[in-house]
Amino acid sequence: MAAVTLKSVKKNYGTTTVVHGVDLHIEAGEFVVILGPSGCGKSTLLRMIAGLEAITDGEISIGDKIVNELEPRERGCAMVFQNYALYPHMTVSENIGYALKVAGLAKADRMARISAVANMLGLADFLDRKPMQLSGGQRQRVAMGRAMIREPDVFLYDEPLSNLDARLRVAMRIEIRKLHQRLGTTSLFVTHDQVEAMTLADRIVVMNKGQIEQVGSPDDVYHRPASTYVAGFVGSPGLNLLSVIIDRASQQIRFKDGQAIALDSTHWPHLPEGPVTLGFRAEQAAIVSEGGLTISPHFSEALGPSRLLHGTVGAEQAVISIGGTQHYADDAPLQAEIPSNAMHFFDPVNGRRILPLP
Ligand SMILES: Nc1ncnc2c1ncn2[C@@H]1O[C@H](COP(=O)(O)OP(=O)(O)OP(=O)(O)O)[C@@H](O)[C@H]1O
Ligand SMILES: [Mg+2]
Repeated sequence: MAAVTLKSVKKNYGTTTVVHGVDLHIEAGEFVVILGPSGCGKSTLLRMIAGLEAITDGEISIGDKIVNELEPRERGCAMVFQNYALYPHMTVSENIGYALKVAGLAKADRMARISAVANMLGLADFLDRKPMQLSGGQRQRVAMGRAMIREPDVFLYDEPLSNLDARLRVAMRIEIRKLHQRLGTTSLFVTHDQVEAMTLADRIVVMNKGQIEQVGSPDDVYHRPASTYVAGFVGSPGLNLLSVIIDRASQQIRFKDGQAIALDSTHWPHLPEGPVTLGFRAEQAAIVSEGGLTISPHFSEALGPSRLLHGTVGAEQAVISIGGTQHYADDAPLQAEIPSNAMHFFDPVNGRRILPLP
C-alpha cells in the first residue's frame, strides 16, 4: 500500500477546465471516497491517477514517486470499472489470472494465486464459467479479483456497484469494506451515491464542478457540512435550507413568509445580523403543539421506520421526519421546533458555513 498525493492537479479538455487545481493527500491504507454529481470530474480525477488520462498541470505522487510521466502499468494501481470489462471468451479463472499470464508467471504459481483470490471473493465454484453465465454481482467480483491478483499499492474503483440491483449493492459494499479491512490496500472509490460514500469511507471528498468542496469523515460531511452544496448533497433528504434574516435586537430568526422563531443568542453569540441561510436536518426537528416553525405539508413519504413530511415555508421547501408509527394528519400545518444546537448557518451569497458549530 502507498500514499497518494495530488498537488494542484488540473485537467483541460481544449479550452474547458474540468478539474481545477485539486490538492489532496490520501494516507497509505486509507479508504477515500470521491462523491459528487454526474459530470463533476470524478472519473477524470481517478483516470489521471491511474495514468489513463494525461494531466494538464500539477503533480501526482504514489508512495514516494512522482508518477506524472509513468505509464499506467508502472504506477502500482489497479482499477475496477462500472462496466466490469471482462473478457467474454475467457473463463473466470482466465479472466482473474490474465495479468499474471501476461507477466509470464508459471502456471502452478498462477493457479495458486487465482485460487487464493477466488476463495477470498467467494468465486471458487465459478472458476470454469464464462462471464455470460454469471450474475451481475458475480461479474463484479471477477472484475475485483482481476484487480486484486496484481496485489496493487492502490485500488481505484470507478462506480463499480452502479450496475447492480439495490440488494446486491449493499452486499458488495460490505464485501469491499471487509476486503479493505483484510488487505489494507489504499483505496479510492468514486460514486455519486451518498449512502455508498457514507458507509464505505474513512474520509469523503465532496466534489463540485471540478473542485473539492469539503474533505472530511462521514460524520464531518453529514454533521458539519462546509457549504450549502455539501449540505444539500449529503443525507437523504439533504439538509433543509431556508432563507432567513437574523435580527439580533429582537433576538429573532425571521423567515420570508413573515414567521419568526427565537434566536438563542447565548448559543450563537457571534452570528452576524442580516440575511443568512438556515439549515437543519429533517430528523432533528421535533413536532410541537405550539411555538415552532409552521410548515405546510403537501406530501408524505412512508419509509418504514420513519415517514417524511414534505412541506413548504412560504415559497421554500422543508422536510420533517417523524416516526413511522406516529400518526399525523398529512395536510394540516405542523409546528416544527428546531433545537438551537441543530441549526446550521451559511452565507447566503457564497453558501459557505458562517460559524463553526458551537
Ligand atoms: N474526452 C473528453 N473530452 C471533452 N470533455 C470531456 C472528456 N471526458 C470528460 N469530459 C467532460 O469532463 C467533465 C467531467 O467528466 P467525468 O467523466 O470526470 O465526470 P464524472 O464526475 O465521472 O461523471 P459521471 O458521474 O457521470 O461518471 C464532464 O463535463 C465531461 O463532459
Ligand atoms: Mg464517471
